[in-house]
Parts: sequence; structure tokens; C-alpha cells
Amino acid sequence: MSATLPLPATGYADANGRLCAERVRADFPILGREVHGRPLVYLDSAASSQQPRAVLDAVERYVTTTHANVHRGVHVLSQDATAAFEGARETVRRFINARSTREIIFTHGTTEAINLVAQAWGGAQLRSGDEVLITHLEHHANIVPWQMACARAGATLVAAPLTPNGELDVEAFAALLVPRTRLVALAHVSNALGTVLPVADLIALAHARGVPVLLDGAQAIAHQRVDVQQLDCDFYAFSGHKIYAPTGIGVLYGRESLLAAMPPWQGGGDMILSVAIERSTFNELPWKFEAGTPNISGAIGLGAALDYVDTLGRERVAAHEQMLLQIATARLREVPGLTLIGTARDKAGVISFTLAGIHPHDVGTILDREGIAIRTGHHCAMPVMTYYGLPATVRASFGCYSTAADIEALLAGLQRVREVFA
Ligand code: ALA
Repeated sequence: MSATLPLPATGYADANGRLCAERVRADFPILGREVHGRPLVYLDSAASSQQPRAVLDAVERYVTTTHANVHRGVHVLSQDATAAFEGARETVRRFINARSTREIIFTHGTTEAINLVAQAWGGAQLRSGDEVLITHLEHHANIVPWQMACARAGATLVAAPLTPNGELDVEAFAALLVPRTRLVALAHVSNALGTVLPVADLIALAHARGVPVLLDGAQAIAHQRVDVQQLDCDFYAFSGHKIYAPTGIGVLYGRESLLAAMPPWQGGGDMILSVAIERSTFNELPWKFEAGTPNISGAIGLGAALDYVDTLGRERVAAHEQMLLQIATARLREVPGLTLIGTARDKAGVISFTLAGIHPHDVGTILDREGIAIRTGHHCAMPVMTYYGLPATVRASFGCYSTAADIEALLAGLQRVREVFA
């Protein structure tokens, strides 16, 4: 990933324009707590990131001063809630540089966003004999909805293979793009390995064959600038809780021409223009895909989180995380018996590994006793584990508040693990 330094100083930058993570940490109340009598070392941001005071305050302010249902009332609260909710949509649009808020659908998260496309687009477009192309790097949210959509249509799900260092085999991917391929669905960044996929090249390959591309941005959105026009992707899905916002809110970006041609996927209030017993007519974009009362406070929290990230500086955060990744990679390589899983040339702030002779769950349990939160398991990406012949890995992942001291704490924790198992 590219990141340009130095950047102009802000309240969050040091004299060299670099992110001052200590100042960032002060914004996250949870980072002040202890676990098992030790200061919390939070290295699980890829599973869920923590929320800064700016997000907590925005949600509290909304709930205590403004909350009412949206798009429904003539009273002041409903109008103000609607303005705040639609304002958050505009913030999302700006953050990912979509052309229009008509292209921004609020969902529960990445998983629901991908299911929306698999059901609405897949239901209308997929036919028997068609293929959907994914990769072996995907997490379950970008596999299972396509399996279900393919099963309904009689289509086939095809997965492009990896290389041993955890990159996508681009030649094999290109060879799997055939006239039967109707859609490509790709992780922007692998949650299990941290691999950044060369999505611009892959999108160009797919578009040259007239195939639309969905990017699963769950692990990318907080770690690099995402510009959907520059990427030229057709759909982009992400979750709020991976970018310092609350859980239960996420986004589907869709190219307007594709969304306009898709039928609604869930029926109910707000997604209609008129309802009679015989038939209904549907609302315009984006509300056509938002049935029922939405997660209003979640959307407002998401808007606040995106503004917060922009205040820190996206390139500055990316550069900080790249620095941590380099430190962690070098330091972990020094640990006897440790094998890094996934050593792609381009990685985002995720580092997966195993320790010889020690099950990842045991590593995680001992680290937890030291106050260190990492993730162990298959990371909801079982095909990746199958590829490496592993039941699980240990995964440390970074956010804007992570520091080199967190990595040193992890190293000390791993030393403790090795002593216990010596
Ligand atoms: N997909 C999330 C992770 O990688 C839950 O941990």
C-alpha cells in the first residue's frame, strides 16, 4: 500500500507528520481498562475495532436529543432524525467518493450487503450454467451467499487459487474468467492473511470481459483510502464496526445503473411508494433496498467514525499501520518455532502465525491471561486454513490506536506461552 509522508501536522500528528498513536489512544475509553489485572493490549481490530469518544458522543447526542423514526413524521424530531440519518449517508458517499447517495445502501454490515447482491442481483441475473468467480482467500460472508445464490439458479461457484505466500494467483484468476462468468466477488484485503489483492488489475480483467465486480471491503475500509470511482468497482461492501463505528451498521455501495435494474430484496415499510393488496410499487434508490426502520443511531455513529478517521488522516493511519506491520513481521520472525502464515508482498494490518507444537487456542488463552486480545481460529475463512493444512492460526491485527508497545507486549506474551509449554 502506498502512503505519502510527511503530511501536514494536525492535533494527531507529531512534528514529522506521523500519526501520534498515544494521542489517538486517549480518544478510546476502552483502551484504559485492565484485563486480568493487566493493561489491555487490544490486537483484534480485524474482528472488531473499538469506538472513539467522538462516535460514542455522536450516538448519545442523537439518542438524547433527536431520536424518532425517519422518513415518517411531520414532527420536529422525525425531521431532525431524518436529516441526521441522510446526512450520515452523505458522509459515507463522500468517504468512498460515490457519485450519488442513491448508490449508498445502509445494511447491517458486510454480510448483509453481500447477501443483498447475491439475492437481488443474483436472483435476477444468474441462470443455469453461469459461474460466479471468487477466490480461495474469501471469508465466509463472501462464499456462502454465492453458494446459496448459485444453488438457486443452477449456477456454479468457482474459486481462484492462491500462491504459497498467500497472494492470489492472478494468471489462474484470469484463466477462470470465461464467457460463463457472470460476476466476480473478491476480498479487497484478506481477513485471515492480510493480503491486499491487486483489485484494480482484477477489476480491469473482469471488465474487459464485461463482468461486474463486487469488492468485499470489510478489512480494507479502515486501512487504506477507498475511492469507488477510482477502483471502478460495481459493488463495495463494508461494516461500520471495523472502522470504529458501532456494530449492526454497514454499507453496500452499488453502481446506480446496476442497483436501478435490481429488484428489491426485502419487502416492508420505507421501500415502497404505494401498497394495495393486489400489488405494490417500490421506492426509488437508495430506499428501495432499505425495508423497515433502519439502524438510525448506527448510521449516525458510522458518519461520526468516518469523520474521525478523516480527522486523523487516512494516509497517516495507513502509514502508521504499515510501520507496525513491518515491526511485527521482523520481531515475530525472531521467535523460535513461529511460522508466519501469509507473507504477501502487499499486506494490510493483519499478521497470522502458528507456534510449533502449540495449538493456537492455547496461545490465545495464555495471551488473554496477560491482558492481550488476539484472535485464534479459522477467522471465518475455513478454505484459507484448508489451503495451508491448518486447523487455525493466531492472528494479531492493528488499528489506528495500536502501538509498537502493543507488539512488544505480544512478544513478551509469546515468551510466556513458550515457557508454559517448555
Ligand atoms: N470477519 C471477522 C474477522 O476476521 C469476524 O475476525
